[in-house]
Amino acid sequence: MPTRNRIEVMHGVNLDQLGRRDPRHYGGLSFDELELRIAEMAARMDLETRFFQTNHEGEYVEHLHRLEGLADGIILNPGAWTHYSYAIRDALELSGLPAVEVHLSDINAREDWRRRSVIRELCIGHVVGKGPDGYLDALIVLHAELSH
Ligand code: DQA
Repeated sequence: MPTRNRIEVMHGVNLDQLGRRDPRHYGGLSFDELELRIAEMAARMDLETRFFQTNHEGEYVEHLHRLEGLADGIILNPGAWTHYSYAIRDALELSGLPAVEVHLSDINAREDWRRRSVIRELCIGHVVGKGPDGYLDALIVLHAELSH
């Protein structure tokens, strides 16, 4: 079991509406079901999860500000903010925590503007287009990172 095992799972704008979004990109899972799946996958790896979702960019930023001492790693899917929010990018850098970026859909195979991620360079891993299983990949990356 990793000595540091607290994972903050941070979802951004519109992710709470998952069950209502285009199932071709996002699958049929509701947001509550997604969080449950992530918690179950994490528990099997002895990782503790805490969940946060907001549709307000400033709240997302302030949550990142508050993480010091409360989390050991971050899984983040900021939704559309991924593509342009330098405020979230800077707050993620401030957190100083290892982070993995996850997107349910394949952001590289959709509109051009989705290909850009302003947080990518700060993350130790990126998983796109694997649906909920992408979060398992992210947990594996963080488990390895926090085990040494
Ligand atoms: C998303 C991809 C983003 O481009 C989009 O704005 C989202 C969800 C994903 O999980 O695939 O809201 O982050």
